[in-house]
Parts: sequence; C-alpha cells; structure tokens
Amino acid sequence: LYDSTLSDLKDKIKSYPDFPKEGIIFRDIFSILRDPACLKSVIDLMVAKIEKLKWNDVDVIVGLESRGFILAPLLAVKLNAGFVPIRKKGRLPGVCKEIAYTLEYRSDVLEIQEDSINQGQRVLVIDDLIATGGSLGATCKLLKGLDAKVVGCLVLLELDQLEGSKNVDAPVESLITF
Ligand code: PRP
Ligand code: ADE
Repeated sequence: LYDSTLSDLKDKIKSYPDFPKEGIIFRDIFSILRDPACLKSVIDLMVAKIEKLKWNDVDVIVGLESRGFILAPLLAVKLNAGFVPIRKKGRLPGVCKEIAYTLEYRSDVLEIQEDSINQGQRVLVIDDLIATGGSLGATCKLLKGLDAKVVGCLVLLELDQLEGSKNVDAPVESLITF
C-alpha cells in the first residue's frame, strides 16, 4: 500500500450534480473509501491532524449517523477513546435528548442518549463532511446540553463557500476543502 496525499484524495472524490435535489452538488466520500490505500491514508491523515491540533486527549469520539459512523469508530480505536452515536430520531433506546435541525437538502431531528457522556468529558466530533453546518451545529448544542466539553469537530470534507463553521459553536477543522 502506498500513502495517498491530500491532493490525490481530493482528485478521487466524485461529484454528482443535482443529487439528492436539484442545485446540490453531492461530494461522494465513498469514491475514496473503496480504495484500500486511500482509506488508510484518510485515517492516518485525520489522526495526524488531531495530534497537531492537540485534540487527541479525549474521552469520547462522537459520530453522526450515517456517514460519520464510518470514520468515527476507526479514529476512536486509534485514540483510545470510546464511541458515542448521534442518531436520527426514534432509533436510540432509553432517555434521549433531541434537537431539530436543517442541513443542505433536508430537515430532520437528531438524538443522543442522555447517559452516553458524563459531565465534563472531553469530546471530539467526527463527520464525513460539513456543508451548511446545520448537523454539526445541532450536535454541539446536544453535547453542551449534556455538559460535555467539545474540544472540536473534524471532518474529511468542507464545502467552504457555505461557511458552515459559522453555525457551529466549537472549532471546526477539515482535511480537504471544496
Ligand atoms: C450529510 C453529511 C453530514 C451533513 C452535512 O448527512 O453526512 O452529516 O449532511 O450537511 P450540513 O453541514 O448542511 O448539516 P445526511 O444526514 O444527509 O446523510 P447520511 O445519513 O448519508 O450521513
Ligand atoms: N451533505 C450535505 N451536503 C452535502 C453534499 N453537497 N455532498 C455530500 N454530502 C452532503
């Protein structure tokens, strides 16, 4: 396996105009994850970025359903942290906190299990992509409602024209910008 650079990875991302709705250019992370060398490089580069930012000292990695669930547990294993899911409403058992939100092409409701994170625990949020920042912004609100300390949010792709990080009350970093 050869390491891929960030520009190799960016070149491999396929874009689909008008998916899932007219006017949206869908950036498909699966076009890079299916390549073994690229998948390994994505994880290695994300770990290197987390270490450079000094975000590695965390108790929990939070991942967003669904595409965040791919990267977050892989990084949690590398950082010796636990994994906690944020899911779309109605899928998690027990007492949950919920928040309504809007993303680039839809509105929905997210939930977290109330007992999944203890007060003051240090959390790193992982997702595949930030567009409007609606999803990560809502996630940070849920986490702050549990009195977690959100160290930051790291995504693979950032659609920087949408300035989504302005809607997130925590530092947002990305590997690749479009
Ligand atoms: C996608 C993506 C991010 C979110 C980003 O999730 O995985 O979580 O949109 O958009 P935003 O910055 O405008 O909020 P989505 O729930 O559509 O899909 P998924 O279930 O395939 O992850
Ligand atoms: N989630 C929100 N906006 C997106 C986009 N343009 N491509 C892929 N996933 C997305």
